[in-house]
Amino acid sequence: MGTEDTHSLGYERVDVDPNVSVLLATMDATAGWEATRRLRAWERDRLKLGGGQRLLDVGCGLGEAALALVEDLGNDGEVVGVDVSEEMLRVARAKASAAERRVRFTVGDACALDEPNDYFHAVRCERTLQWLANPLAAVTEMARVVRPDGRISLIDTDWSTFTIDVGDDDLADRVRKAMGTERGRPSNIGRRLRDLCRAVCCEPLDATEATQTWTAWNPNELPTPDGCFSMESLADDLVDAGQLASADRDGFVSTIRHAALHDQFSMALTMHAVVAAAPAS
Ligand SMILES: C[S@@+](CC[C@H](N)C(=O)[O-])C[C@H]1O[C@@H](n2cnc3c(N)ncnc32)[C@H](O)[C@@H]1O
Repeated sequence: MGTEDTHSLGYERVDVDPNVSVLLATMDATAGWEATRRLRAWERDRLKLGGGQRLLDVGCGLGEAALALVEDLGNDGEVVGVDVSEEMLRVARAKASAAERRVRFTVGDACALDEPNDYFHAVRCERTLQWLANPLAAVTEMARVVRPDGRISLIDTDWSTFTIDVGDDDLADRVRKAMGTERGRPSNIGRRLRDLCRAVCCEPLDATEATQTWTAWNPNELPTPDGCFSMESLADDLVDAGQLASADRDGFVSTIRHAALHDQFSMALTMHAVVAAAPAS
């Protein structure tokens, strides 16, 4: 089994990750999740973008969410996507040239945006805050570059909601306890999105959540459940969290694989979304 089969997912430094191709492919897969599609449609309804407006996508990744919203901006609208990863942006730019619109994908840090104050009608950030050491710094930057009365949209995962059912209550309990604790990054930030908006004086207008569920996985055909990290890396997380002895790591993985092969596998994960209004002036 190579690294691609056992990888964990980490989006802090995509370009130097030995599994960069897996990270890119995973973003494609997660864009197809029912929960992702529902939250993006919900966001689009609430942003109510119009012709000639400007949109910024912070941590835009492969750019497909920004490029879908460009449709709402007419021919004189503008979309800017910022991401720290050149590899992500290379794919995003290729998609944008096909779209032939006013789109700029640029390298930058969410916590130090190279964009003017009060410029964008809407600023969005999806599944990126969970990878930042200081998510409040990024949301503060979003509030700086959005126009008075503009909109801020945050979508992010709450990994403490992650559950796995393979017919083993003890295993499920250990996973729940391990994922409930943030270790080294704000993995449970989804539930704090409204507080983050208020912290930068943006008033939440509406909020929702969506749960992605997996009801099947064939480990003989796919190294991981669709768009998910590997079960080996989940085992490593449990070891780190003190929920699994290192010696039991392989047994943990084989229990899950065995259950999945016998049609006894499900997982769930909840993502949250909020759209907030910037102050009028
Ligand atoms: C999980 S992906 C989400 C991509 C996209 N927003 C989506 O939902 O499809 C996280 C993205 O955040 C980017 N990222 C991580 N740290 C960043 C930073 N400090 N500034 C800007 N982007 C960052 C990564 O390169 C990656 O593209």
